[in-house]
Amino acid sequence: MSVLPTYLLSDNAGVAPDGHLAVAGCDVVDLADRFGTPLFIYDEAHMRERCREAVAAFGDGVAYATKAFLCAAMARLAHEEGMHLDVATGGELHVALQAGVPAARLVMHGNNKSEPELRMALESGVGRVVVDSFDEIDRIEHLVAGGLPAPAVLVRINPGVEAHTHEYLRTGAADSKFGFSLTGGVADAAIERAAASPAMDLVGLHAHIGSQVFVVDSFTKAIGALAPLVRKMEAREFSIGGGLGVAYVEGESAPSITEWAAAVRGACDDSGIEARVLAEPGRAIVARAALTAYRVGTIKPIDGLRTYLSVDGGMSDNPRPVLYGSGYEAFLPRATTADRDREVRVVGKHCESGDVIVQNARVPGDTAVGDILATPVTGAYGHTMGSNYNMVLRPAVVFVRDGQARLVVRRETYADLLTRDLG
Ligand code: LLP
Repeated sequence: MSVLPTYLLSDNAGVAPDGHLAVAGCDVVDLADRFGTPLFIYDEAHMRERCREAVAAFGDGVAYATKAFLCAAMARLAHEEGMHLDVATGGELHVALQAGVPAARLVMHGNNKSEPELRMALESGVGRVVVDSFDEIDRIEHLVAGGLPAPAVLVRINPGVEAHTHEYLRTGAADSKFGFSLTGGVADAAIERAAASPAMDLVGLHAHIGSQVFVVDSFTKAIGALAPLVRKMEAREFSIGGGLGVAYVEGESAPSITEWAAAVRGACDDSGIEARVLAEPGRAIVARAALTAYRVGTIKPIDGLRTYLSVDGGMSDNPRPVLYGSGYEAFLPRATTADRDREVRVVGKHCESGDVIVQNARVPGDTAVGDILATPVTGAYGHTMGSNYNMVLRPAVVFVRDGQARLVVRRETYADLLTRDLG
């Protein structure tokens, strides 16, 4: 027997007596028929609950990392639930501001913030700038000399810790483009320079060790490595960044936000950190909130090898399997708890053999062309990392809550494909 582990579904997912999956009271097959496929379906109350959990666990100042999933409705949701927002580019900053989030609630990130991006951040009055290089300090000083207000800053330190995760998702090992290294006196020099600069108010330190990290120890190690600096400079704030992992496939399990916060705060206490402890979860807020609904277009058995099942999306709405070899589950929302006794490779519609969604998926034996097939836990780094490869249209996004579905991002149209094309 291979049945979908329902703990991979969002908080308000439920299976009807006929086997159909409903998210927040909305039948997933009906949503797919109504809004088309591929479709990102987000359980709104699930995200609100995770935001509340983060605020309860860390207190004011905890930020939602918008790179995980961003649209105006999401920016407002996180803001309404008391979170600050981490924005890492001018584009994310623009969307957050346009959504009506006050600049004071924004944390500006990026290892290569351009002068126009920094200008935008300072002009709008973002709450924090996380400084990542000496070149950036030069740029901020130049802008402030030109009359812009001095920002409050955190200095990003690279703790030199190997997080247990995919190599591409590690950001805190010694060999990294992010932050100032702890070694060679670099971090000390950066802190001294920021502290002495009249162009910024140095509030504290920041570290982010990587993403999809299951092992809480990786965070406590980073805290241990940074504690002497935090104490020495009497930092008012210390942010441990984001990175808490989530379960994607059967057999995985991850700490909750509450457990993560307890470990982080405990480690800070143990190492004598008196600063306000902050964090920036992205994935842990949104990943399990969403599933992607696709329509099955072809089923192609290849004798003695395998069966390819093609859906109407692919690497353009979920590049994670291609980029990181990430695993996903697949199931039929018309038969959510059915035995998945047939092995198939779920692939997309792109002109590329590597365009795989699930390498070795299990689906019910009667899966047929025309069925809606869903992959759970696609709420983070799917829609935001999507592309238009092959001029495939980007999917729509719906938020569902209390039996109501709200379209928050409409599906792209063929006309959209030419909006920037000047002929
Ligand atoms: N803070 C900073 C400074 C970050 O760089 C990130 C993620 C976060 C917070 C949020 O991390 P989270 O809690 O979501 O793990 N595209 C990859 C993930 C890249 C994460 C980049 N930075 C993926 O699909 O797994």
